[in-house]
Amino acid sequence: MTAVGIDAVEIWTGKLKLDLPGTFAPEKGDDPEKYTKGLGLNNSSFPDAYEDIVTMGANAAHRLMERKGLSPDDIGRIDVATESAFDNSKPVSTYVAGCLEQVYDGDFHHANKGERKFACIAGTQSLDDAYNWIKAGRNRGRGALVIATDTALYARGDAGEATQGAGAVAMYVTEDPDLVELSTHQGYGSADETDFLKPNQQFPSVDGKRSIQVYLARMREALEDFESVAGASHPDQYEYIPFHTPFPGMVRKAAVLGYRHMIRGTPIEEELAAEIGELPRPEGFAEDEDYQEAIREYMDALSDTDAYREWYAEAIEPTLSVSREVGNWYTGSVHLARLSALRDAAEKGTDMAGKKLLVGSYGSGAQAEIHAETVADEWDEEIEAIDVESQLDRRYDLSFEEYEEVHDRHNHEKQTELEPFTTPDGEFVFDGWGRMNERK
Ligand code: HMG
Repeated sequence: MTAVGIDAVEIWTGKLKLDLPGTFAPEKGDDPEKYTKGLGLNNSSFPDAYEDIVTMGANAAHRLMERKGLSPDDIGRIDVATESAFDNSKPVSTYVAGCLEQVYDGDFHHANKGERKFACIAGTQSLDDAYNWIKAGRNRGRGALVIATDTALYARGDAGEATQGAGAVAMYVTEDPDLVELSTHQGYGSADETDFLKPNQQFPSVDGKRSIQVYLARMREALEDFESVAGASHPDQYEYIPFHTPFPGMVRKAAVLGYRHMIRGTPIEEELAAEIGELPRPEGFAEDEDYQEAIREYMDALSDTDAYREWYAEAIEPTLSVSREVGNWYTGSVHLARLSALRDAAEKGTDMAGKKLLVGSYGSGAQAEIHAETVADEWDEEIEAIDVESQLDRRYDLSFEEYEEVHDRHNHEKQTELEPFTTPDGEFVFDGWGRMNERK
């Protein structure tokens, strides 16, 4: 069976950054450690005055096409995943194609273009669409360009303001990929939920605390569904487990539940029972407060064991490194987590070829998807070619007042004028509403 998966990845981060413990926390009267230790974030990325979801997506895609020597003829499909779209008719992929056609001889007249929406999980759904298109043999030897691009902004004063971010991930999906092969097995956990939504509004209505519980519930269902087709998973089976990362603290909660699930019925569970006792069982209703408290205590004890800490340090912590510096990129977030993991492996010199990743995607509204990936032989060349550091380092560090101006600039209802803080450097720029996306 032909392997299908991600051949290449590039990212584009918004060119501004907000220092959360240093600049944001003091203005909010918060302890900086709420950000660094609680949420697990150092900075978030923001788009400069001339950036938006189109320019960030097109710039990531252009970078990828240049590096891989691709022309429009190599691309039979462009899917953009976003929950920050500004056009209810034309998909963002048409705007992106319009940008790219300015710099390539060919065009995308014979590429299928679309836009995927299901909150943050849409990036993975677009990958799945590309995979299915290739597996169905409809691609005529061409690959698919999948772009996950978002400006994750919350209303000023909303608790979510601490977890904003902006950036794009571009992925080229092909047969015999150089980076990872996607598994045929998938598991889903999906239910109609209203904890995070944007009905005809730019900024989400969000019940943050409930959204955390919904994330955990759907992720658990997806893991069970995945195991029903792929067999029980074990902690040592996967080198890394990249999760959707709205903020690293969320992944800390998901990881301990995942670990608990994966060790059941294994010798690890038996060994740990001697140390921390057995998982409590409900005597009456599972919602019973005493039972809930007993579960919390068990989970705290579990996350304090050496076995768990070692596993977390190896399989989870490395997936969070980029996210800590950029915040939530919504559709791109889980794909940044995979990238962080593989960068860690490259730095450590781990031989990843043939090793497995378990990827946990999530979108509010709500749906989780779990699938496995197998790392390809050429993964290390691909990862070493991606320049993440210089993009993070070149960002302009905003003061709080400047952050307020940037937020207003990107507020669709305000759209205020703003002098850019950085200078375009051979990239697509947004030149005002109505005149779109020239290259400067
Ligand atoms: P909050 O009320 O500002 O923060 O809201 P908090 O008081 O809950 O504190 C956050 C954490 O910091 C807590 O950790 C505190 O204990 C800790 P926890 O107890 O939960 O482990 N903390 C400290 N730690 C050390 N030193 C200190 C300190 N102070 C506090 N001094 C919330 C936080 C996440 C709710 C808010 O930011 C929010 O609403 N965010 C947006 C919603 C969100 O991200 N939800 C995540 C799940 S839903 C999802 O992932 C989908 C999404 O990406 C959208 C999509 O799919 O499209 C959001």
